[in-house]
Amino acid sequence: MKPQKLYIRTFGCQMNEYDSDKVADLLRESRPLESTTSPDDADLIVLNTCSVREKASEKVFSDLGRLRELKLLRPGLRIAVGGCVASQEGAQILKRAPWVDVVFGPQTLHRVVDLLERRETSGTAQVDVSFPEIEKFDHLPPPRKEGPTAFVSIMEGCSKYCSFCVVPYTRGEEFSRPLGDILAEVASLAESGVLEITLLGQNVNAWQGILDDGSPADFADLIDWVAETPGLQRLRYTTSHPLEFSQRLIDAYRRHPMLVSQVHLPVQSGSDRILAAMKRGYTTLEYKSIIRRLREARPDISISSDFIVGFPGETEADFAATMKLIDDVRFDGSFSFLYSPRPGTPAAGLADDVGHETKLARLQQLQAATDAAAAQVSAAMVGTHQRVLVTGAARKDSQELAARTDNNRVVNFPGPADLIGRFAEVTITEAFPHSLRGRWHAPS
Ligand code: SAM
Ligand code: F3S
Repeated sequence: MKPQKLYIRTFGCQMNEYDSDKVADLLRESRPLESTTSPDDADLIVLNTCSVREKASEKVFSDLGRLRELKLLRPGLRIAVGGCVASQEGAQILKRAPWVDVVFGPQTLHRVVDLLERRETSGTAQVDVSFPEIEKFDHLPPPRKEGPTAFVSIMEGCSKYCSFCVVPYTRGEEFSRPLGDILAEVASLAESGVLEITLLGQNVNAWQGILDDGSPADFADLIDWVAETPGLQRLRYTTSHPLEFSQRLIDAYRRHPMLVSQVHLPVQSGSDRILAAMKRGYTTLEYKSIIRRLREARPDISISSDFIVGFPGETEADFAATMKLIDDVRFDGSFSFLYSPRPGTPAAGLADDVGHETKLARLQQLQAATDAAAAQVSAAMVGTHQRVLVTGAARKDSQELAARTDNNRVVNFPGPADLIGRFAEVTITEAFPHSLRGRWHAPS
């Protein structure tokens, strides 16, 4: 049988990237398949969508508009839409784009093969955007190793219900994967040569489990267990939430050198009034206290964050408070967004009253400040010695190697190709806006 060609386009977060990999694995198990980078020669197209911000969902519908032409030319082409837009719109997708064959949600991606088969046998489009969370983890294929790093999903969904966010509605409530399953997956990846693992979830520190003796376990316990994995050398996690950032988790930084000196901890705003309206559940003082204690435990730790500018009612004074927080904390980078009302969320009922121009100007000011702080961190790294994980050839010069530092910066340096997939020692010699340059130290 001639292999089918699969084209997957992923929008949005790392959770979606992870889900797309799993969809590809499931499809690959079910039929001869090869990947293609162009929808034009694909037999099967999967759009894994995101609805966190307005532009992301608009983009999906404009992509679907273009795919209509392909379907008219090749009626055998199959189009599947997954992710959060699919979860939110469900069968409405078929109303707007009747050339779509299958609609699945983040919690039903393990049924994608079945849904495609049902599409063939029934001759009609299939929709399943239900939330059978417990099933999903049990039906995913075992992890495949690709290079020295891997992601392991430890929990799904979110129960925080921030007033602006669609995630609890599209991905469902928080659901933790059992401890034994996580440890088995981490062990199997480490055994096959993976050196660095990123524990993945919408709120990883909301993870809850049960130990063998029946006692409850939290995310700090999970880190203790994962850190015991033979062969594992570096541990990351994303994303954490300030509300459950316990002292026990902070103390884990003292116990486990393999926990990287980098935390992505979304704050969203530096104004307590706005934080309350966002229903974030903490104040700026509480946020700063977490950062202070993290820095006590790990003085060189890099902190990055997410910000929303232009939330309903955000005044100049509120925005100034955000800029002050940025100044106080010295964030090492940020993901910052213009507020966009998301249908079905409580904040969508508030007047979106900050003008677009004002939102844009605030975003630029905020990004300039966090970029400048990140550039300072990079500049301070020049002359330091770093243990880096070599991930492959450098993007711009294939004769050179690319590696990642503990605080997740790319370092390019000349070195032997057999370093790929291993740790190497380098001295940082130059800092650029998006990368660093280093000099390799051959082991003596
Ligand atoms: N779990 C994370 C946390 O602790 O906040 C957030 C995950 S959310 C999917 C990713 C980011 O998208 C948020 O941190 C927020 O900055 C942004 N975001 C979510 N809803 C948004 C909206 N309606 N408008 C603009 N940005 C939004
Ligand atoms: Fe969204 Fe807040 Fe959860 S931003 S993902 S509801 S923590």
